[in-house]
Amino acid sequence: MGNEELIERIVELKEERNAVILAHNYQPGEVQDIADFLGDSLDLSRKAAEADADVVVFCGVRFMAETAAILCPDKLVLLPDPMAGCPLADMVTAEALRRKKAEHPGATVVSYVNSYADVKAESDICCTSANAVQIVEKIEGEVLFVPDQYLGSYVASKTGKELILWPGFCHVHMSILPQEVERLRAEHPDAEVVVHPECRPEVQALADQVLSTGGMCRYAKETDAEVIIVGTEVGIIHRLRKENPDKTFIPASERAVCPNMKRITLEKVLHSLEDLSPRLEVPEQVRVRAKDALDAMVGTS
Ligand code: 13P
Ligand code: SF4
Repeated sequence: MGNEELIERIVELKEERNAVILAHNYQPGEVQDIADFLGDSLDLSRKAAEADADVVVFCGVRFMAETAAILCPDKLVLLPDPMAGCPLADMVTAEALRRKKAEHPGATVVSYVNSYADVKAESDICCTSANAVQIVEKIEGEVLFVPDQYLGSYVASKTGKELILWPGFCHVHMSILPQEVERLRAEHPDAEVVVHPECRPEVQALADQVLSTGGMCRYAKETDAEVIIVGTEVGIIHRLRKENPDKTFIPASERAVCPNMKRITLEKVLHSLEDLSPRLEVPEQVRVRAKDALDAMVGTS
């Protein structure tokens, strides 16, 4: 089946199933183009919660689809490729977190949404890269931040708080090196540099703006800069170019590709809608506790 035919079938089945397609900004271009909503983790968790649909097809990675399943127990949440994981989310387990909590009994546990349901269930509040500073700012006393150490150190620098950091990282963002950003800046002296807070601190230090992927999309529209160097997963370039045809976007590193995000294809989206699978289900006793941490985030930001 060619792409045109696939898209036609997806649109028909979406109607039939009363489904909504949510896609993350890192998805392959053709998947972004069929989405009802495209966004960062925060935008998508809000959209999942308010969508008037029976079925949510989540084009992203497992923790994102799981977040939708936690927030919307009455909807069927589908992840078109069940193997689409996130190595950063794998870096903290509920058991390891319980051990760490025992060492810091008074600490408020803030978990980045790039974590699994059982870790969220052990947390007081969740955050995304879009609202982490705002959330930590309001917390008094000790904060245990999991699992991304670089988002954590960024939040610490912005809030002036000393956080207990977990040694997790995203290999995709780690692959963006300061030398590359410096070289591109020298080649394009009028360009602005925007980077994701999962980047190394040395890369963040070279940036004009440190933003979530949704923040980058909003910023690209507002800035007067005509050339923007983008330090995050390269999938976002498709959206940035489409929404800002008069501006030039240069990836800080062509190597910054998240293989898990690229597992989703139009064929897999169609199969998901046909078979209503693979489904994302979270055990109820974990779901309700994880939902408390997500509700605390949505209520705060
Ligand atoms: P955003 O929430 O900024 O879209 O980031 C999600 C992510 O997985 C970054 O690697
Ligand atoms: Fe996980 Fe990094 Fe991929 Fe984001 S880019 S989904 S943090 S591996």
